[in-house]
Amino acid sequence: MATPVAAERRPRPFNDLREYLSVVKEMGHLKLVEGADGELEIGALTGMIGARRDCPVLLFDAIKGYPRGVRLLTNMLNNTERQKIIHGCPPEIGEAEAARWWNTEVKKFQPLPPVFVNDAPVKQNVKESKDVNLKLFPWARWHEKDGGGYMCATSTVTRDPASGYINVGSYRFKFIDETTCVGHLASGHHGDIISKQYWKQGKACPVAISLGQEPSILIAAGDNAAWGHCEYDYAGWLRGAPVEVTRGVYTDLPIPATAEAVLEGEIVPPKAGVAIEGPFGEMGGYYGDASPASLIKIHAVLYRDDPIIMGSPPFPNTARNLFGARGLRVRSELEALGIPGIKGVRYGGGIVVLSVEQSFPGHAMRAALGALGGTGGYHTRFVILVDEDVNPHDLNEVFEAMGSRCDPGTSLDINRRIWSSRVDPRLEPEKVEKGDYTASCAIIDATRPYHWKEHFPEKVGISPELRGAMEEKWKELLGG
Ligand SMILES: Cc1cc2nc3c(=O)[nH]c(=O)nc-3n(C[C@H](O)[C@H](O)[C@H](O)COP(=O)(O)O)c2cc1C
Repeated sequence: MATPVAAERRPRPFNDLREYLSVVKEMGHLKLVEGADGELEIGALTGMIGARRDCPVLLFDAIKGYPRGVRLLTNMLNNTERQKIIHGCPPEIGEAEAARWWNTEVKKFQPLPPVFVNDAPVKQNVKESKDVNLKLFPWARWHEKDGGGYMCATSTVTRDPASGYINVGSYRFKFIDETTCVGHLASGHHGDIISKQYWKQGKACPVAISLGQEPSILIAAGDNAAWGHCEYDYAGWLRGAPVEVTRGVYTDLPIPATAEAVLEGEIVPPKAGVAIEGPFGEMGGYYGDASPASLIKIHAVLYRDDPIIMGSPPFPNTARNLFGARGLRVRSELEALGIPGIKGVRYGGGIVVLSVEQSFPGHAMRAALGALGGTGGYHTRFVILVDEDVNPHDLNEVFEAMGSRCDPGTSLDINRRIWSSRVDPRLEPEKVEKGDYTASCAIIDATRPYHWKEHFPEKVGISPELRGAMEEKWKELLGG
């Protein structure tokens, strides 16, 4: 196994999004775009430029129909150099080593709780009740078949009514009218669980939706922290200084003090009102369905002068996640379960490949079930188990193992009623209608069966000893 890369993390506590953008500008990564239309143009430009490996951050100003100064920022994170800065990754760590380096660093996580401050730039402008107008900000229609205008890179704050713990998740919201939106809080995500607890008590769920802020908060909000763990504590550790928060004016929820704009309101119980959410171009590359979602009534809008709203719409070939890679998450969850012998993990397109060095009967299956039970394995269609001599990142080797070590009659298992979501493209429409957001997953065991591993036919090859001797003797022929 490769040895961990040792290098001290160098976190950078940016005071706000603007300070981060000034660094991005110094790097030559900031591109100002004036005069674009939020109706499809901003989305298409984001997707087309985002697919370039060296894509800049796009800062849209003078957006059609909006005063100059109300800005929209996209492609902030899908560049490896920019991700390295936010994660405190020293420049000497290359892209190839970054995931391994991060796997070691992230284990050093210590919660760094937020601190309350009164001096909060986000309160420069406060509009309440009758003065609330969501049209102050551009709700772009990102993809051609989206059902409306969306905010899609939020850091959304809710409070668990039972324990009082603060959750921050990134969810998208669709514009309905001047004071109302609806959100997609996928089933099982903590914002969804929390809302339902309020509804059970016949109450609306207080919510504060930050539309743009210092980058570590968005990273933390999009990360699957465990239930009961506040993402602000993770953002604090990530940036190397506590996040500064201030009390919201309507909800009293802690909101980022230097946020660009925050919408405060309540998610009403479904019986108090719903509107259609979706379709939207989803992360998995398909449009999700359109379904009724609870109305979110906005009672206060807070924003800085000349706010910068963030957008991060999914588009093909634009996700370059060096540090939040799903394979890494599966691996750390298996390690947390104490499952030994995990030699490598690959996650891609709903398929997890696990390379396991088996040391007891049932070992490989235990790893597969662990992967399915965690958050990293969410939306997995197939778990493929391979032995330690198979590189899970080399699909030729994986296919070769499936073609030789797997007996479909005895090596396949189907798990049903697995955690999925409404926007899974393969969910039968009837299931979606019934609210049954569960799917199935196959475990393909392409390992040598543990009980006869030692007697499994040997692989043909040239041993290192023979290879060495040949290289020595036949140097000229072998070019070496
Ligand atoms: C930019 C961005 C947009 C996202 N959009 C959504 C969304 O619309 N709905 C959703 O449920 N999850 C979305 N996610 C994923 C969740 O934010 C992520 O799974 C997070 O861990 C959920 O937090 P929670 O478990 O605390 O609810 C998004 C993530 C990112 C980074």
